[in-house]
Amino acid sequence: MTRKKIVAGNWKMNLDYQQGISLFSEIVNMANDEVIGNQGVVVCAPFIHLHGIAQLAGSMSRVNVGGQNIYFQESGAYTGEISASQLKSTGATYVILGHSERRAYFHEDDDQLSKKADAALKHGLKPIFCIGETQEERESDRFFDVIGTQLEKGIFHLADSDFSDVVLAYEPVWAIGTGLTATPEQAQEVHAFIRNEVASHYNQDIADHTTILYGGSCNPKNAPELFAQPDIDGGLIGGASLKSRDFIDIAKVFNR
Ligand code: PGA
Repeated sequence: MTRKKIVAGNWKMNLDYQQGISLFSEIVNMANDEVIGNQGVVVCAPFIHLHGIAQLAGSMSRVNVGGQNIYFQESGAYTGEISASQLKSTGATYVILGHSERRAYFHEDDDQLSKKADAALKHGLKPIFCIGETQEERESDRFFDVIGTQLEKGIFHLADSDFSDVVLAYEPVWAIGTGLTATPEQAQEVHAFIRNEVASHYNQDIADHTTILYGGSCNPKNAPELFAQPDIDGGLIGGASLKSRDFIDIAKVFNR
């Protein structure tokens, strides 16, 4: 059984326009030379970079471009927001939704996220839908409940055909940007749980084809062991995606 492996970078709110263009050029050159498997490589950049880097990627590059958020409305008086169709018009094909930083700092809830997922899919953007528990939720053993609810309320309203365009990303909040990685066993346990939830809500075939990424202090050292787990299909990479060498080395874990 094969499912799509993906290594996606999340630049967050880093890099000015020129720095972004130059990092992306390095990534494209290295990816074209060195990434030889079927794995997808995605760079999720701030809005200001998207058109420029999508042009650099062109249609020949193996690097795809994504945004880090959208608003769910189609258009109108929503000062400062960006719609799915606007994001799509830059050349982006993916969008991160429900990152824990957006849930925590910008109060995005399951209801808003479910609307964002609808808007993304309507305009042909593939959501990278993030779920994960806080440290307190892990320590009080509530993490399966929390993740189950995030899935149920945020993304499981989708019809089968739409859900097949969704990439899930398990990101334990306590592991993001902290240098604390979930152990491969801890991550695998949750990934297997997520795949089971997908199988019970949809069916086993859809579950078997759903790409589930791990995110949280992933780097070239720990990626091989994490990605060797049966239910981990790649990574969502923050800090290490800002260094072309590290990011490509993580993508190369799937070279064969
Ligand atoms: P990190 O971030 O790799 O810097 O921990 C991951 C993420 O937030 O997507």
